[in-house]
Amino acid sequence: MKIRSMFAALAATAAMPLTAHAVDLEVTHWWTSGGEAAAVAEFAKAFDATGNHWVDGAIAGSGGTARPIMISRITGGDPMAATQFNHGRQAEELVEAGLMRDLTDVAEAEGWADLVNPPTLLDACTLDGRIYCVPVNIHSWQWLWLSNQAFADAGVPVPANWDEFVAAAPALEAAGKIPLAVGQQPWQTSGAFDVLLVALAGPDVFRKVYGDKDAEAAAGPEIARVFQAADDARRMSANSNVQDWNQATNLVITGQAGGQIMGDWAQGEFQVAGQVAGEDYTCLPGLGVNEIISTGGDAFYFPIVDDADVTEAQGVLASVMMSPETQVAFNLKKGSLPVRGDVDLAAANDCMKKGLEILASGNVLPSVDELLSPDTTTQKNDLFVEFFNNPDMTPEDAQARFVEIIDSAD
Ligand code: GAL
Repeated sequence: MKIRSMFAALAATAAMPLTAHAVDLEVTHWWTSGGEAAAVAEFAKAFDATGNHWVDGAIAGSGGTARPIMISRITGGDPMAATQFNHGRQAEELVEAGLMRDLTDVAEAEGWADLVNPPTLLDACTLDGRIYCVPVNIHSWQWLWLSNQAFADAGVPVPANWDEFVAAAPALEAAGKIPLAVGQQPWQTSGAFDVLLVALAGPDVFRKVYGDKDAEAAAGPEIARVFQAADDARRMSANSNVQDWNQATNLVITGQAGGQIMGDWAQGEFQVAGQVAGEDYTCLPGLGVNEIISTGGDAFYFPIVDDADVTEAQGVLASVMMSPETQVAFNLKKGSLPVRGDVDLAAANDCMKKGLEILASGNVLPSVDELLSPDTTTQKNDLFVEFFNNPDMTPEDAQARFVEIIDSAD
């Protein structure tokens, strides 16, 4: 080895926290699409560089399938060493039950409180002043992804906002396209509704309904308008019979569909397909109506295990996930924004840059996962599965059910 590369190797090693013994850590997550797999490989690579070994525990079928499996393994005495959840309340009961490792020592040693931005991400990891998770990204839901090809084929300009998109639907249909691609997993229609809510009813109504659980606001005229828009979305997506979110994204990538309302993780799929923002596809934050993003995303939790080496290696993984290098490498592939403001994202594509600008402007909202309990979220998901699959359910009926859910929400 040449002297210079020997020094480089030594410097790299010195920067990495090392454990006394090499440890295999099983890490569960639901990142199985092309973009997600590329991103999670960056975590594995960075952790393996510490001399330990990432044992990949991907669970196919999205969060709705993965979370019950993760939770039952932890409560059933067969915990993995680390696991993904969304920022917010999904692991609340596990933390309260004392099943999760307290990471406060790692967080304090590394000054997470000073570098995590926005601070709500760390708040979502904190219970009674102790930190139980490492936030790894900021994912926002408020995006409309449009296929430039589909609009060219239909002979209409790429829309600049939701209303123009709805108006373009007949032209897309006449050209044999599905106007709006929506997958059948329950969280997708529910998520799309929330995006319409923020765009059309505005952030104050969003905070009232999901933050204050204000049933009166849920019954009001602003939300009635959102249900009318959801009715448009239902009609525009009637022929979109795919299951997974990334299959729906693929309909946009291949120009078979006009657009998709989806979180910014969709960017990972455009990237893997070699598509370029602005050339092949267009992204409209806030549906082109209200440029605002929610600051949800993913966090890793570390179940308590009876093995000192594993416990130590858990701390190493938490630290690796928060390191500036990993934050850049992982988030560029994931389509998400880093959780620390002190890293350079010069390589970000145009859509990520828009997200970074909105974040810097402070025009942000908490995610629904941070506001609603998993129980309430399930009820809401069930409602939207029914609404999108049953054309006989009127927007008014659906709003009445929504009001009941908000009225009893926790
Ligand atoms: C979300 C998660 C994202 C993304 C998406 C689709 O819950 O925060 O990271 O992967 O699911 O799988």
